Amino acid sequence: MAKVYTDRQDELTIDAVLRRGLRVSGTPKWAILRLALARSLRISTPPDEALDRRESAQGGGEYALEQLTGEGKGEEEDFTPLFCALLSVYHDLDLFADDENFTRLLQRHIRRGLREFRTSWLESHDFHEYLLQELFSDVHIAKKADDGMSQGSIRLALSEIGVSGEIVEQLDGPRLIRFHVRLRDAKDLDVLERGLEKLAFTLGLGEAGVFLVRTQEPKVAALDVPRPPSSWKQATGHDLRQWLALSPSEWRLPVYLGQDVIGKPFGFDLAATPHLLVGGTTGSGKSVCLHAIILSLLSRLTPDRLNLCLIDPKRVEFAPYRDLPHLYGGEIFTDVRDSNEVLKKLVTLMEQRELALAEADARDIDAPAAKSFGWPRIVVVVEELADLLMQSGAIEEPLVRLAQKARATGIHLVLATQRPDAQTFSGLLRSNVPSRISLTVQKSAESRIILDETGAEKLLGRGDMLVKLIGSPARRIHGVFAGLDDIAFAIAAAQRRFQ
Ligand SMILES: Nc1ncnc2c1ncn2[C@@H]1O[C@H](COP(=O)(O)OP(=O)(O)OP(=O)(O)O)[C@@H](O)[C@H]1O
Ligand SMILES: [Mg+2]
Repeated sequence: MAKVYTDRQDELTIDAVLRRGLRVSGTPKWAILRLALARSLRISTPPDEALDRRESAQGGGEYALEQLTGEGKGEEEDFTPLFCALLSVYHDLDLFADDENFTRLLQRHIRRGLREFRTSWLESHDFHEYLLQELFSDVHIAKKADDGMSQGSIRLALSEIGVSGEIVEQLDGPRLIRFHVRLRDAKDLDVLERGLEKLAFTLGLGEAGVFLVRTQEPKVAALDVPRPPSSWKQATGHDLRQWLALSPSEWRLPVYLGQDVIGKPFGFDLAATPHLLVGGTTGSGKSVCLHAIILSLLSRLTPDRLNLCLIDPKRVEFAPYRDLPHLYGGEIFTDVRDSNEVLKKLVTLMEQRELALAEADARDIDAPAAKSFGWPRIVVVVEELADLLMQSGAIEEPLVRLAQKARATGIHLVLATQRPDAQTFSGLLRSNVPSRISLTVQKSAESRIILDETGAEKLLGRGDMLVKLIGSPARRIHGVFAGLDDIAFAIAAAQRRFQ
């Protein structure tokens, strides 16, 4: 069985990284060996023969490939071909045909990486920071070079609009840089506000805007200035799963949408919202946002506690969920007549639940007296409201009824639409769907229709959004992008839990 050998010094390094570097309890030793490999691969010259070792020395260690690369562990956990491809490319050799050489080179890299840790990481320094620097340093350099958004250029642009101020802080977020500017005079805030468009123009930002956010201090303004997309940090399905794992346990329907301006995950309890409108122009990221909502809901709720009623007149977007055990009615509704039927059925269900609640003297589904009913919450997600309403205006009636009263019975609406105009989003629906998400829109008037305020016309697209939940001011969020793989992953997990 092929093995990688280390010597005593290597073992001491592994130990130091585990105990004083990573400090994540339960991390196995082989994880450090993998980090060492990554470190070594960042060095452009090949590791030398002096690192070869055919047996374990005193105080040294030995690691089976089974641990290191997952060899023989089956498709999901075996990364051997990946490791082999990495080293083959690095050394310009076909290591797939030469197991012995593969193991030898793997060992050389691992031992060289450990030696790097030993010689260049100072234990007084944060190991995570060190790794970030060592493994991704050029990514940082590229980002800085790309940014073109220095404090100097901001200062210059400010002076062009007649505002003088001192930049007192700079926070680098996933897509923006937030500059805190201390103004000479609080009155300058108005000048700044009026000059934002010119400021964006001077900075060469095109359509994307600079957002002004007031801070606690009257003279300090926060300016959110976008970076070019090449330097964005994109949140993924993996991030989403991590956020959800840490979501507050009292949230009944936990949902995470993405990260805020400085990179903090943004989530909320949909049960408290309680209905949601998602608007935005074509390609702005509505469907991606709906997927994030659905995947969030699926993360810990089994079908006995959550049903999803998915309505998709476009027919394609929700298709990946067709085998989900949570589907209300067992299918995805794509036809307008079926959609109307199922919504009417939900209205009936709502009325039955209302009656049962009244008899039990319970105010809503969360009341202690309602617990014994064991009702699942139902979230209705409509992928394109305007399409449905254009096909049949009749659908508005059950939607309005649900929006008006369903929250107490644990039925919630999430409605997405490209065209949130008076026709699709009528007064009655509007006033009963109080929480809104606006992705990028074309005109400020559209932003006003969705959010009752302007701003969404200056967003950056690709899931950039303003989120205004009931009772809270609008917040800028950069949406998480979960792909088809993440959807498949969530469905498989849901099915496993259900069986
Ligand atoms: N959060 C995000 N992060 C990065 N890219 C995104 C994000 N959201 C959307 N995008 C990009 O924008 C594309 C369009 O997104 P999406 O399909 O969700 O738009 P849409 O608003 O539903 O459009 P339509 O109204 O035409 O259905 C995606 O394929 C993706 O490339
Ligand atoms: Mg869409």
